[in-house]
Amino acid sequence: MGRLVIVSNRVPDPHELAQPAGGLTVALADALRSGDPCLWFGWSGRQMEFEGDPAPNVETHGSVTYATIPLTPAQHRGYYQNFSNGILWPLFHYRLGLMSYERADWFRYLEVNRLFARGLASMLEPGDTVWIHDYHLFPLGQELRNLGFQGRIGFFLHIPLPPWSLFRALPPAEPILRSMQAYDIIGLQTEEDANNLRGCFEAEGLSGADRVRPFPIGIDPTQFGADARLAFAGEEVQRLRDSVHDEPLIIGVDRLDYSKGLQERFLGYERLLTRYPEHRRHVTYLQVAPVSRGEVEEYRLLRRQLDETIGRINGAFAEFDWTPIRYLTRPVPRSVLAGFYRLADVALITPLRDGMNLVAKEYIAAQDPDHPGALVLSHLAGAAPELSEALLVNPHDADAIADALHEALTMNLEERKRRWTLLDNEVRSTTAGSWARDFLTALDAADANVDGQTPA
Ligand code: ADP
Ligand code: F6P
Repeated sequence: MGRLVIVSNRVPDPHELAQPAGGLTVALADALRSGDPCLWFGWSGRQMEFEGDPAPNVETHGSVTYATIPLTPAQHRGYYQNFSNGILWPLFHYRLGLMSYERADWFRYLEVNRLFARGLASMLEPGDTVWIHDYHLFPLGQELRNLGFQGRIGFFLHIPLPPWSLFRALPPAEPILRSMQAYDIIGLQTEEDANNLRGCFEAEGLSGADRVRPFPIGIDPTQFGADARLAFAGEEVQRLRDSVHDEPLIIGVDRLDYSKGLQERFLGYERLLTRYPEHRRHVTYLQVAPVSRGEVEEYRLLRRQLDETIGRINGAFAEFDWTPIRYLTRPVPRSVLAGFYRLADVALITPLRDGMNLVAKEYIAAQDPDHPGALVLSHLAGAAPELSEALLVNPHDADAIADALHEALTMNLEERKRRWTLLDNEVRSTTAGSWARDFLTALDAADANVDGQTPA
């Protein structure tokens, strides 16, 4: 039995207690608690100039060996900032207008995927199973095949995948789809995403649709619930509780990203204060939005826009003893966030598109079963089909957000318990561990597909 080899752009830093926000590392770290030996390969998070191929930095912590390589500043800009986050991210979140394509970035993207392949190939052993994650690394499987790796390779996409009518706007749509032929199993978050990818393969006349399957990702609800109970007794939660004086608390937690619908959400909250004035001076909305991808222009613009919107709403509605929105752009340890979720009466999670959205599942897992809060969730989040007992809203509709918030703030205990019990069952039925097991079982059952072609 060979090792499991995980590859992702972002790799958790085993020395850091507070990890950067992001669903991929959270879910994988939870899934790896099984203790089986594993190699996790990816970017070190560092940029530096180097000649030739950098030697991976290898460190073992418990059952996981981390092997990471740096990128040059030019590679980081072309591959990570521009191609992954300035082209693929907006397009895959259905925001074609935000995509800004340069062919040079596509070449950098390929260059870094080849660099990853060479670095990883030198560490692979026969019998290893390779599991590649996310949009930064679509061509990596094909590059490993080109270097002669014959073992099983699976791929999981953590973000949505748009239909062919949008996908085809990507200039290298065809080589990316063709490179995916190297995978034995391709996992997506939802049935909708899986259908879209099958449609893209069919439109390009490529086989492989039978290797595409949805595997909705989850969290470790038992551990997260225990973290929430612990944090609830901690100093930070105590301070937050004292500061709201038993009045209702709404919480939002998201990376500062335009896909999360933060601007639209603030306008929805403003509409609540306008249309339901009885909540003024009582409700507090705490939004935690750690800065993410701050070097990418669209993210800088968003930050400025949010500063302006929040300043305007607070200026218009605040009283000398009440502030409607509290806004933090620095990261908060996940263990503390767990306690904030438990304290909050309502979670407001309204992405315009999201692969899954783990925060929604974390909020459910953190609740006190005797006094659960209510979840207001975008129907465009990947989690919505599973969490259909939440108050589902269209995140573009400020009145719908206001109505759902009012309903959540005034919902009686019996109804909150009824909904939460069903939601909690869902969160417990697909965990990070079961997600990884299901994917790896399917990969294990697949025939290794070693005859993919080299991408252009
Ligand atoms: P994405 O992967 O797009 O960031 P998810 O909601 O799926 O979105 O995952 C975000 C993860 O990052 C969650 O596990 C959440 O707890 C964590 N997280 C979000 N905000 C913070 C923060 N301020 N500090 C630490 N972790 C955070
Ligand atoms: O889950 C989506 C994702 O893009 C991950 O691939 C990534 O690690 C996370 O969000 C956070 O983004 P970044 O790694 O760019 O900080």
